[in-house]
Amino acid sequence: MTAPLAAEALDQIFGTARSNHRFQDRAVSDATIRTLYELAKLAPTGFNAQPARYVFIRSEAGKARLAPALSGSNREKTLAAPLNAIVAWDSRFFEHLPALLPGRDVSAFFVEEARIRSAGTFNAALQAAFLIVAARAVGLDAGPMTGFDAAALDRAFFPDGRLRSLLVLNLGYGDRRDIRERGPRLAFEDAVQIV
Ligand SMILES: Cc1cc2nc3c(=O)[nH]c(=O)nc-3n(C[C@H](O)[C@H](O)[C@H](O)COP(=O)(O)O)c2cc1C
Repeated sequence: MTAPLAAEALDQIFGTARSNHRFQDRAVSDATIRTLYELAKLAPTGFNAQPARYVFIRSEAGKARLAPALSGSNREKTLAAPLNAIVAWDSRFFEHLPALLPGRDVSAFFVEEARIRSAGTFNAALQAAFLIVAARAVGLDAGPMTGFDAAALDRAFFPDGRLRSLLVLNLGYGDRRDIRERGPRLAFEDAVQIV
């Protein structure tokens, strides 16, 4: 048991954090990208399977590969972000289980395609959420988005078909000058039961 985070830290990660797609002209360093992964990798996943894989895009060449897959409304802001991350899931993530879950053989669990897909996408989405929280914790802003053509993105970045894109995150140090008001959230009474 540890103490709750100080109010200022909670505010940075939740209270004032926003989905942000507009950024200052300030690069994100390789060291920060590494820190992001070192934090996000600690996300819990079923059987500790860790199906998420990440491509961080910073170069012009990388952005040129990304651009055609983006929807019209997302293209400009995504290309302008200092850093983008593709969060994908490995459709053969279970091949790593002998190393990630030593001492337990769960291979019988991952035979059916539907089960592989649901475990892979569900757990990779959890990992993506942790990546967003990690970004906020290190002082970055993150703008998640699914407004892209996943098949086109996969052809551009994962041509052998093994990795499949789930989410693109725009990352950087946010510029919130023109950000819209935060959308309402469901009230406790409308979303929660305690039984
Ligand atoms: C899975 C997912 C998909 C999203 N897709 C888009 C998108 O395509 N374009 C966009 O501008 N924002 C996108 N968003 C951002 C949401 O609109 C935003 O997270 C939500 O309105 C909450 O905003 P807030 O975090 O600032 O309160 C997406 C967010 C998530 C989590």
